[in-house]
Amino acid sequence: MATYTLPELPYDYAALEPVINPQIVELHHDKHHAAYVKGANDTLEQLEEARDKGTWGAINGLQKNLAFHLSGHILHSIYWHNMTGDGGGEPLAADGVGDLADAITESFGSFAGFKAQLTKAAATTQGSGWGVLAYEPVSGKLIVEQVYDHQGNVGQGSTPILVFDAWEHAFYLQYKNQKVDFIDAMWAVVNWQDVAKRYAAAKERADVLLLAP
Ligand SMILES: [Fe+2]
Repeated sequence: MATYTLPELPYDYAALEPVINPQIVELHHDKHHAAYVKGANDTLEQLEEARDKGTWGAINGLQKNLAFHLSGHILHSIYWHNMTGDGGGEPLAADGVGDLADAITESFGSFAGFKAQLTKAAATTQGSGWGVLAYEPVSGKLIVEQVYDHQGNVGQGSTPILVFDAWEHAFYLQYKNQKVDFIDAMWAVVNWQDVAKRYAAAKERADVLLLAP
């Protein structure tokens, strides 16, 4: 019985046009995301086998593979729900996402400052990576993280609530080498309702670290 399963897309392949074309969405979800799910499950099986046999020669590679594939699965699972064909604009109190809007202003000074930082972080990833808006429970504020691959350069305990996939598989068939254009376009499909829901949930579980029990 597999531990992880590929979640279904919350919309059809064409739902994010013209920002992301259907071919990208289909390949990205059905092939790339699926590969991370399989990779995480396979790695767990290999770790179980290592425990059973007491053979630890591959432990470093297996632990790295687990972090990579599991993080890939989690970030993509967030990514699909962070987007909607009816998205874009700014989070506004009038739309019921005032808490998120306030947190962005408090954490970054302004929505414009936040947008500029996340855009830059995503668009300037070296190699493969992500631009991430995360809730950081120690400060109780939001931060931007520039994630390497799926798992590197992350503050422990932070919770991703808005993720921009900056891997080439996310845009190359449509935007070619123009990663900046892709990230700029992404803002038009952000589902602020989903981001606000994740922000509220992240705040709820902020004491999970027991830093101030
Ligand atoms: Fe991806």
